Amino acid sequence: MSKKSNLVILRQAGSTQDEAYKIALDGAPEGVAVITTNQTYGRGRTGRSWISPPGKNLALSLILRPQCYPEKAPLYGLMASVAAASAVEHFTGRVAHLKWPNDVLIEGKKIAGVLSQARIRGSLIEFLIIGLGLNINCTESDFPNELRKTRTSMFELTSRTFDIIEVGETFISDLKELYIGCCLGEFRHVLDLWSEKWIHKGFVVERDGIRGIAEGIDDSGALEVRRNDGSLVKISSGEINFSE
Ligand code: BTN
Repeated sequence: MSKKSNLVILRQAGSTQDEAYKIALDGAPEGVAVITTNQTYGRGRTGRSWISPPGKNLALSLILRPQCYPEKAPLYGLMASVAAASAVEHFTGRVAHLKWPNDVLIEGKKIAGVLSQARIRGSLIEFLIIGLGLNINCTESDFPNELRKTRTSMFELTSRTFDIIEVGETFISDLKELYIGCCLGEFRHVLDLWSEKWIHKGFVVERDGIRGIAEGIDDSGALEVRRNDGSLVKISSGEINFSE
């Protein structure tokens, strides 16, 4: 990936994820990012929608072509959440934490989410679209009622407004530093950085009949849960509720 950012800035988009996917199919090189502050049909993980008030937040989808096996895809999602946490910390001066797999939290409230989509060709990833939704200049009242208690923004944390494109460029630059190592197969650094920021170690996890204590992530990025009987279960995708 070249050092220079290669941004496609749209006044409005249904989903930057879809726009980036289309141009990646047409051969856009890695490092190209589609950005908008007006995303009307944002998509979140596990089929949810991603709500972003017009003009206030960042919706960014970055094309990567890591030339590796599909099993590695989740690691690039972890990489992106580490880069997002780092960008948020840079601008707000606050400590960001991570929720497995890709949420960025400050003081327990979600400030950013990552959606990573892979297109597979043969046995390899043809491209990855890393989607970042980051709450920048919105206020609590910009969110629908049901989200107000669980969301925050850079403005809410600092009472300052930020240049949305500059924040996007900082995210891409932070991500590039990590991406170089990942492309060389060195995921340990990302896994360590992610684990340092993970906030739910030791929390109780309950899902689909699995109940246990969240212990960590393995080398593939799967969540490791220790059951009462001592057995270790791995969860590789989906949404998890953590409780103390
Ligand atoms: C999540 O936490 O559920 C992930 C949210 C990802 C939202 C971003 S905004 C940019 C890109 N375009 C989309 O439609 N979704 C991602």
